[in-house]
Amino acid sequence: MKKRDVIVIGAGAAGLFCAAQAGARGRSVEVLDHAKKVGRKILMSGGGRCNFTNMYAGPENFLSENPHFCKSALSRYTQWDFIGLVAEHGIAYHEKTLGQLFCDDSAKDIVNLLLKECDKAGVTLTTRCEIIHIEKGSEGYVLSTSMGEYECESLVIATGGLSMPKLGASPFGYKVAEQFGLKVLPTRAALVPFTLHEKEKQSLAELSGIAVDVYAECNHTTFKEAMLFTHRGLSGPAMLQISSYWEAGDTLSINTMPNQDARELLAQARKETPDALLATCLTKVFPKRMVQTFIELNQWRNVPVKQLSHSECDSIANTLECWQVKPNGTEGYRTAEVTLGGVDTNALSSKTMMAKNVEGLYFIGEVVDVTGWLGGFNFQWAWSSGWAAGQVV
Ligand code: FDA
Repeated sequence: MKKRDVIVIGAGAAGLFCAAQAGARGRSVEVLDHAKKVGRKILMSGGGRCNFTNMYAGPENFLSENPHFCKSALSRYTQWDFIGLVAEHGIAYHEKTLGQLFCDDSAKDIVNLLLKECDKAGVTLTTRCEIIHIEKGSEGYVLSTSMGEYECESLVIATGGLSMPKLGASPFGYKVAEQFGLKVLPTRAALVPFTLHEKEKQSLAELSGIAVDVYAECNHTTFKEAMLFTHRGLSGPAMLQISSYWEAGDTLSINTMPNQDARELLAQARKETPDALLATCLTKVFPKRMVQTFIELNQWRNVPVKQLSHSECDSIANTLECWQVKPNGTEGYRTAEVTLGGVDTNALSSKTMMAKNVEGLYFIGEVVDVTGWLGGFNFQWAWSSGWAAGQVV
């Protein structure tokens, strides 16, 4: 039987960061993971450059049944604390857009930062370790694993959500929560591309690869970012963001002209270039292929703009500014960046991440019902929640 003060299950962003914090306090810590490699999602993140935090991170950038839960951890370990650590490790980084900070070089830098912090704190990392059974005894927890038995005072569950099973994701954390009587809120894929119904998919297939700036709106939430047409449907940051607010059956409202008034564009064209075809007028704003497809799809008359009636112009402008799209679904956990829902925050202390009714059992990171927007917010939650638990385990 190996005895440790703290066992962390899951060597991802939250688990490694929490382990380093606890180790630095002098606790004996071991991190167990079933995967071959630690931090696989970090390595894949941000296109290989890891968008490790966001300069503007605040509670309003997170979805949770209890929007107040994330406030304590986010305010005690902030993006500026993590940025400071990144700088301490001499990692070069830059702001890409909207406060999103990426490594200049490689996401490996962030994994190395975590490994160095764990090493400095004397943390043991064990990979390819299957957790078979967990039991709570009078002294703490007893774990049966493929690497033998462990005993610990504090047990931290940092096994993440369900997105990207290929990268080691599993429902393990939810099962542990249920084993100890904690409620798990329904989960669904988020920050995920949309798929379209067959007819719409075929009509828009031609546009695969085209990106345009849009306002995407659903359930009273709007994002202004790029939308990308794909051969399966709609993707790009705007679609990933709004997917977290979308529920099956909902319609998206997409303004394809976020920087210009469509009615004004048409009125101006009728005044200044009355003999120009509608397609010519629209190609000033949209890629040619998109104009052709939209004209066909909506059966607009591609005639000199002076021949279009006021009601036709109105209907064109309306479609461009409030394009209604009813997705068939999403691409699901296979490509989703995160999982919405998870361990109910009502069952946890927002200060320590410990289960209110189960002494010594902690949940951190994505397994908890706290989901960030796209843009570095999910890693910030991993750092902040990992830090909060790391101070007390
Ligand atoms: P994480 O998933 O990182 O780690 C969980 C660990 O637990 C894994 O190592 C896994 O192997 C292990 N595990 C699971 N089940 C287990 C079991 N049964 N037994 C033992 N171990 C088990 N966010 C962001 O802020 N900026 C970004 O740039 C990106 N980019 C990005 C790209 C892609 C492709 C994905 C899939 C996701 C992102 N994200 C992101 C989201 C971000 O990666 C995610 O929110 C965090 O990694 C969550 O950290 P956790 O430590 O909670 O889980």
